[in-house]
Amino acid sequence: MEIVILDDSEKVAERAADILEDYVRRGATLGLATGSTPLHTYQALIRRHREEGLSFADCHTFLLDEYIGLSAQHEQSYRETIRREFTRHIDIPDAKVHGPDGSAEDLQAAAEMYEQQMAAAGGIDIQTLGVGRNGHIGFNEPGSSLVSRTRVKTLHPHTVQDNARFFGSPQDVPIHALTQGLGTITEAGHLMLLATGETKAEAVAAMVEGPLAAVCPASVLQLHPRATVICDEAAAAHLKYRDYYRAALATKPSWQHH
Ligand code: F6R
Repeated sequence: MEIVILDDSEKVAERAADILEDYVRRGATLGLATGSTPLHTYQALIRRHREEGLSFADCHTFLLDEYIGLSAQHEQSYRETIRREFTRHIDIPDAKVHGPDGSAEDLQAAAEMYEQQMAAAGGIDIQTLGVGRNGHIGFNEPGSSLVSRTRVKTLHPHTVQDNARFFGSPQDVPIHALTQGLGTITEAGHLMLLATGETKAEAVAAMVEGPLAAVCPASVLQLHPRATVICDEAAAAHLKYRDYYRAALATKPSWQHH
């Protein structure tokens, strides 16, 4: 795991955009997270598209997860959110923006189909991730199997509470979601997890320095040969080895990849 600690959330976004830009230039398949954390990164990429001609025309994108019970057109569905916040501002056709179908009648079949779609695209080259306060990634809440595949999960009450800010009231937040499993996520070639703000400090410490355990789903990054965690000072505050991570970054050889 490479731990990159930067001063603030803007630097986190620019660093994440730098990494993603390399993949975009190769026409890669991008795994996208929704939520607040990657928004500045998506804005940085939109700016690079507008001002520097960065083209996404050869890329495919796959969402991590989707609420169950909202139509794809619902303004809070993750499909619509990613369209509004990111993909409609760049040159990627809508047909290349994929997400699990949370409105399907047969959700198990929808989950299996999503796995097949990702496989048919050759897998995810780089998966962008946020982390929940309780260590979830995607909607893999504590207790999720470390080898799980795309399936239905029940949101933890804290997650419902955290996501209520996007809805009229907590009662309006769906409590079920279709999410890529931890086994699915770890098949991506590169995992890039972003964390900003002090509310994430405990989850970041558990993920990076705690035991590999289903109780902290994000700890599955420890099993991945290429995982980059980019966080601001506030989110890094509980890391015991943060000085070492800073030193390793400062002395990183130029031949070592991101
Ligand atoms: C979003 C997702 C979630 C979020 C996490 C953090 O697709 O899968 O795991 O990444 O809940 O959310 P924010 O970034 O809003 O703090």
